[in-house]
Amino acid sequence: MENRDRGFEPLGKVLAREKENLTGTPRNEQKAGIRTSPPAEPECPICKGGGWVYPSLPPGDPMYWQVVRCECKAEEDRINRERLLLRSCELPQGSVEYTFENFERYAGIEEAYDVALKLAEGSEDLLWLTLQGDYDCGKTHLLIAICRSWLARGRPARYAMAPVLLDELRAGFHPRNEDMSYQERFDFFKNVPLLAIDDLGAESPTSWAREKMDTLFDWRHFHRLPLVVTTNLGLKELGGRIHSRLQRFVPSKVVTLKVGEYRLRRKGAKKCGRN
Ligand SMILES: Nc1ncnc2c1ncn2[C@@H]1O[C@H](COP(=O)(O)OP(=O)(O)OP(=O)(O)O)[C@@H](O)[C@H]1O
Ligand SMILES: [Mg+2]
Ligand SMILES: [Zn+2]
Repeated sequence: MENRDRGFEPLGKVLAREKENLTGTPRNEQKAGIRTSPPAEPECPICKGGGWVYPSLPPGDPMYWQVVRCECKAEEDRINRERLLLRSCELPQGSVEYTFENFERYAGIEEAYDVALKLAEGSEDLLWLTLQGDYDCGKTHLLIAICRSWLARGRPARYAMAPVLLDELRAGFHPRNEDMSYQERFDFFKNVPLLAIDDLGAESPTSWAREKMDTLFDWRHFHRLPLVVTTNLGLKELGGRIHSRLQRFVPSKVVTLKVGEYRLRRKGAKKCGRN
């Protein structure tokens, strides 16, 4: 099928035609045609591997010069975007298993699981979630599972342990981008579509730290931006302002995980011969 019939033609071909029109000199491809590196894959018949095409439009159309991505690059672009999103989320190494599929939804933990899933799916009725509870009961697992689902839907998210978030702001550099100024970094935490703060309350309670956290919470509250928090503390211990935001904000939910350590549960299950 003629490429033009499919609505697209290679950028190189269009440019060559334009050049011919301007100079009257046809491009002699045979003359220059010594291939230095053969293409790894068969070339796309539409863009000839360039990845960008002009939609076939009549000359004079206002969009005539607009280039668009060729359909052959859709999968590659999707994978690259996924990689970029994953890298910028900064999930901890060793957390690949922290997904909803790998989370055991047993008695006492159902509500936390269901609400986490709801937020992960981008429900409008739930924008903030606080997971509160003792050690090793699955809070971080659920928080990271939310981030992973969010990323899988192509939406940016950022994971940060509360003390690390503050350290990053304090140190004035970003691990992967040393040029990022303090203000840019703070703006990023303020505006990223999903912010996941692990272990809130584990940071040093300096007045500077409190002020930054208050500002961050206020901003995200004011702009109705999704937020997930885990904490070992009671809400009151998190400070009056944050406590009030976590409770007052309407699409916000606080769930207390009233279950023991998962490790002990597994041990118990093994003893009883269950998986
Ligand atoms: N319901 C569950 N199903 C599967 N794995 C679980 C479950 N609950 C906890 N785990 C596993 O137990 C370990 C501890 O869980 P996690 O780190 O989420 O605990 P936590 O509540 O964040 O604890 P802490 O307050 O100490 O940070 C992890 O390896 C996690 O994958
Ligand atoms: Mg944790
Ligand atoms: Zn193509």
